[in-house]
Amino acid sequence: MRVRIFEDYEQLSDSAARELLRQVLVKPHSVLGLATGSSPMGLYEKVSDACRRGLVSFARVHTFNLDEYRGVEPENPLSYHYFMQRNLFRHLDVPPSQVHIPDGLTQDPEKYCRNYEKDIMEHGGIDLQLLGIGRNGHIGFNEPGEPFGSGMHLVELHPDTRAANARFFDSPEEVPTQALTMGIKTICRARKIFLLASGVSKAPAIFQTLFGAIREDFPSTVLQLHPDVTLFLDRAAAQELEPVSGSFEV
Ligand code: F6R
Repeated sequence: MRVRIFEDYEQLSDSAARELLRQVLVKPHSVLGLATGSSPMGLYEKVSDACRRGLVSFARVHTFNLDEYRGVEPENPLSYHYFMQRNLFRHLDVPPSQVHIPDGLTQDPEKYCRNYEKDIMEHGGIDLQLLGIGRNGHIGFNEPGEPFGSGMHLVELHPDTRAANARFFDSPEEVPTQALTMGIKTICRARKIFLLASGVSKAPAIFQTLFGAIREDFPSTVLQLHPDVTLFLDRAAAQELEPVSGSFEV
């Protein structure tokens, strides 16, 4: 895994955005795997800006989002649909028909998940997958204990994850209990993975991701097995690593 440590979130976002733009310039019909949450917000802002300025076009790109809450309508400001629309898609020239976000309202999650997975494959697989990370090592909504062999599926959200996401809702009880998520297997099939993390609360999870025993109890440790992963960290998220600046490979 490549580790790149930046002075702050701004620089981390800038560098990851440049790499994503490079991917689209080199392969205009790229398939991108996207995440929500606070980690990619800066990157989305910079990518949106580049597209608005005409530096790069997303007209031929296809996107597949990692996850969505179950039972939350796309128009609901708390849905991941809404998040993506607001923070990225409305600023890009990507046609809506090329944007794929799991449907949290599906009546048949099993069939829906199978088709989502198939759809990714039919588009040639994901070229670049963006990830954030939970303090418990979750990636997507793959909580500790999730089998590494899992494809897209319906999950029960871990109390820690619900607590971490409660900041977006009026009360902790309103945080959905289920979500649809790409599985570990789906994520690991991506050709290239960028994991973004900032802030000291992520530091222990980053240490585990890089140096912890590879185990289903800490989902992000699976990334040690993937051939092309880059971690974009700010100094706070990297504080348990040595050195705490620059770039290195493990
Ligand atoms: C979001 C997702 C989650 C987040 C993770 C980190 O689509 O799948 O795994 O990436 O919870 O969230 P932030 O970035 O808000 O710290």
